[in-house]
Amino acid sequence: MRRLLIQLLGIQLWVHTALGVKNPIISGWNPDPSILRVGDEYYLATSSFEYWPSTPIYKSKDLANWELYSHAITRPSQAQLFGTPTGAGTWAPTMSYINGKYYLAAMTRWTYDSVAKVWPRVMWICSDDLKAWSDPIWGDAWGIDPSLFQDPASQKVYLNVMAPNNNIDRVWGIYQCEVELGSGECTGKYRSLWNGTMPHNSSSRPEGPKMFKRDQRYYLLIAEGGTDDLHRASIARSSSPEGPWEPAPNNPILFNGAFGYDNLTVQSTGHATIFDTPNGDSYLVYLARRKINGSSPLGRETFLSPVDWKDGWPIVNGGNPILLSQSFGSVADQKAPPTPFIDMFDKPSLGPSWYQLRTPYTKGFHLQNGHKKGRGNGITFKPNVFGLGDRDTPAAVLRKQKSLNMTFSAQLLPTQSGLGYGETIGISAYLSELQHQIIGVSGCLNSTGMCIFTQIMMNSTTEYRQVPLNSTTIASNLFLHIRAKPLSYTFGYSFGKDGTKHWLSEVSSSWLAFAPTDWFVFTGASFALFATGTGRPWPPHAPKVGFAQVHETHFEENIPDYDRWAV
Ligand SMILES: *[C@@H]1O[C@H](CO)[C@@H](O)[C@H](O)[C@H]1NC(C)=O
Ligand SMILES: *[C@@H]1O[C@H](CO)[C@@H](O)[C@H](O)[C@H]1NC(C)=O
Ligand SMILES: *[C@@H]1O[C@H](CO)[C@@H](O)[C@H](O)[C@H]1NC(C)=O
Ligand SMILES: *[C@@H]1O[C@H](CO)[C@@H](O)[C@H](O)[C@H]1NC(C)=O
Ligand SMILES: *[C@@H]1O[C@H](CO)[C@@H](O)[C@H](O)[C@H]1NC(C)=O
Ligand SMILES: *[C@@H]1O[C@H](CO)[C@@H](O)[C@H](O)[C@H]1NC(C)=O
Ligand SMILES: *[C@@H]1O[C@H](CO)[C@@H](O)[C@H](O)[C@H]1NC(C)=O
Ligand SMILES: *[C@@H]1O[C@H](CO)[C@@H](O)[C@H](O)[C@H]1NC(C)=O
Repeated sequence: MRRLLIQLLGIQLWVHTALGVKNPIISGWNPDPSILRVGDEYYLATSSFEYWPSTPIYKSKDLANWELYSHAITRPSQAQLFGTPTGAGTWAPTMSYINGKYYLAAMTRWTYDSVAKVWPRVMWICSDDLKAWSDPIWGDAWGIDPSLFQDPASQKVYLNVMAPNNNIDRVWGIYQCEVELGSGECTGKYRSLWNGTMPHNSSSRPEGPKMFKRDQRYYLLIAEGGTDDLHRASIARSSSPEGPWEPAPNNPILFNGAFGYDNLTVQSTGHATIFDTPNGDSYLVYLARRKINGSSPLGRETFLSPVDWKDGWPIVNGGNPILLSQSFGSVADQKAPPTPFIDMFDKPSLGPSWYQLRTPYTKGFHLQNGHKKGRGNGITFKPNVFGLGDRDTPAAVLRKQKSLNMTFSAQLLPTQSGLGYGETIGISAYLSELQHQIIGVSGCLNSTGMCIFTQIMMNSTTEYRQVPLNSTTIASNLFLHIRAKPLSYTFGYSFGKDGTKHWLSEVSSSWLAFAPTDWFVFTGASFALFATGTGRPWPPHAPKVGFAQVHETHFEENIPDYDRWAV
């Protein structure tokens, strides 16, 4: 790795100049990364909340280019996300290798409900190949962000978790017990490990504990400061996995907010894992937001930075702020912009980058096997009463938004007849059941015939716009488009892929970046294909609806290091 010392604003900066890894390493919302090296390959799991299948695992050989390898949770016997609101679901996976098997500890939170007081449940699953995973073992301990650590010296297995001190004060800290892997039981003392470095009261959130051993010392790496601007990573070390813990002199070891919350584009840096490459270089993977004019429509993405060791303490990125323009490492360059994504729905099953919402009761879609029947390919829906605004599984498939500068276009399948009002097929820029923007085709509102419409949600208001389709069926050349830019989403249609695009509505991207008051949204934007009866069963006389293809175009992302979009 080549580095260059520069003087900037009176600060000495080591700038890594070799072409190589650029951040984010996995774009689109992929929070809470946990990484495991297996030989010379890396596997990285991230949180997926209410999405299904759950808990994606990515694979890389060079740390720069990642492919979606598997999902850890694919069966209802592993997680029951029924009626799960956004912000709940399955999150904070940590992968470990214990007694010759891979383990993934995580938690599921079925709902938030101040009446039911449902707590997250801690669990772990295991696998021989990181592809096929067992049913869960439910842990005795309660809490958030569980991780399993096997002490290489004693072979004891510890569960480390963020937990409340009791159910009355609810002052959170990092807790631990030795566990029996097969039963989930705490077999050792349940102990408080560390409360982090920040003032310790009921609003502090020491979380995401990751434990590792290096040069005869044990390290406990945590996240602190909550999930927003104060998010950071801190570390402590000990001669025993049970403590006592000595905090690093340079904590927090990662915190871009130290340079101002509205200054650097990269913010909310934390929830990290440290690992070594086969040749002994250390790196940190962590989550961060790209904060564009104060908001981050892509949510929390996966980032990587180099780590140096000094006096047995890690120094992240030379102690310098994380900048998007920085690159490091000597590996092959990342493909940027990524190759366009095209799905003709011509495979026997849906590609792994498509998700459903919550644990599906029924599949809700069908891949039309066009080759055999002399028809085209496509995805057809079996629409139900539910839509994107319901806490259920609508007939919808979603793909994470991977770029801040792209288009998402979908070609509709032709229909045999028309749609009545409420019978809807469309696409969406989707954040949650509370915030999603739609362009679709349905029966017109207040008049006969079919219309192309947009439905834009801003806070609790919804803006509805429509144009008559002037046809009694959907033709095979109708395309719907979403143009996504850092600060806006624009919704339009064309006849023919390269036909003139007619733009109907535009909305600020900030409406897909914030939770409504008193709510949590931990995901980022996705694009959805969906169909719905809007509160009514799909009538037997209504036509079959679906899409023939999806086409994404990714443009270059010129996102500055400093969040200076307001001026
Ligand atoms: C962490 O805080 C809790 C609650 O105040 C306290 O009971 C516990 O002893 C503290 N743990 C450590 C390691 O200081
Ligand atoms: C906890 O401490 C922080 C920092 O002193 C303070 O800002 C916050 O209001 C405190 N929270 C509570 C619940 O006391
Ligand atoms: C914010 O960024 C500017 C450069 O645009 C720099 O001059 C300033 O010192 C930074 N503020 C802080 C608090 O680091
Ligand atoms: C539909 O009719 C209702 C009631 O008359 C009216 O409030 C609404 O503005 C109309 N909407 C459109 C899009 O025409
Ligand atoms: C959205 O609505 C909430 C509650 O009505 C309000 O407090 C908040 O300021 C609104 N946000 C914006 C950006 O208008
Ligand atoms: C349908 O016809 C009207 C009137 O000519 C026109 O304004 C509208 O754009 C047409 N709709 C579409 C989808 O082309
Ligand atoms: C988006 O892509 C266009 C076309 O390549 C380019 O002109 C523009 O600068 C890009 N915008 C951003 C914010 O990256
Ligand atoms: C950036 O956000 C501010 C308010 O937070 C708004 O006034 C301004 O118009 C936004 N800038 C752009 C270019 O959208």
